[in-house]
Amino acid sequence: MKEEISVLIDEEKLQKRVKELAEQINKDYEGKKIHLICILKGSVFFTCELAKHIKVPVIMDFMTVSSYGDGLKSSGYINIEQDFSIDIKGRDVLVIEDIVDSGRTLAYLAHMMKKREPSSLKVCALLDKPEHRETEITVDYSGFAIDDAFIVGFGLDYAQKYRNLPYIGVLNLKED
Ligand code: IMP
Ligand code: MG
Repeated sequence: MKEEISVLIDEEKLQKRVKELAEQINKDYEGKKIHLICILKGSVFFTCELAKHIKVPVIMDFMTVSSYGDGLKSSGYINIEQDFSIDIKGRDVLVIEDIVDSGRTLAYLAHMMKKREPSSLKVCALLDKPEHRETEITVDYSGFAIDDAFIVGFGLDYAQKYRNLPYIGVLNLKED
């Protein structure tokens, strides 16, 4: 199979939207300190770009989660490969996710994090594919709602490839 990528959201549009999200977050968290939890690996660039524009104090933590294997569809099993390290009890937690598809990953993570008693828990996702939702979850800050397609770039991968693309692209698989 030949892998072809077409640009869906270019760098300029991406950076502009990330700034807008940060501005909203700055307003909502005024006077507070945010405990950011980056869901690796996909959210790595998004979290860093967003964090650069957040003006309130920020603590950054990282968690590695996998659900996809090497395919185009989620395996349905959420595997926590590495848990975050700082106690979130009494903290204002903002979870940063690359993309919400079925919603199962975030539903699982929210359930797990709530047990650790943060004082608030919100979600920020760069991309949202609402068509595929299987669970009811609230995305408090959403970058772009997109149609059903397989996305790569700006952190998102296909079989671990293409994360380093500076834009959001759609992956098309074509017969050789
Ligand atoms: P969900 O649990 O079905 O909502 O899937 C969310 C996770 O699957 C995300 O954190 C991504 O890592 C991955 N994912 C979902 N859609 C895509 C995509 O189009 N490209 C790459 N990864 C995706
Ligand atoms: Mg992810």
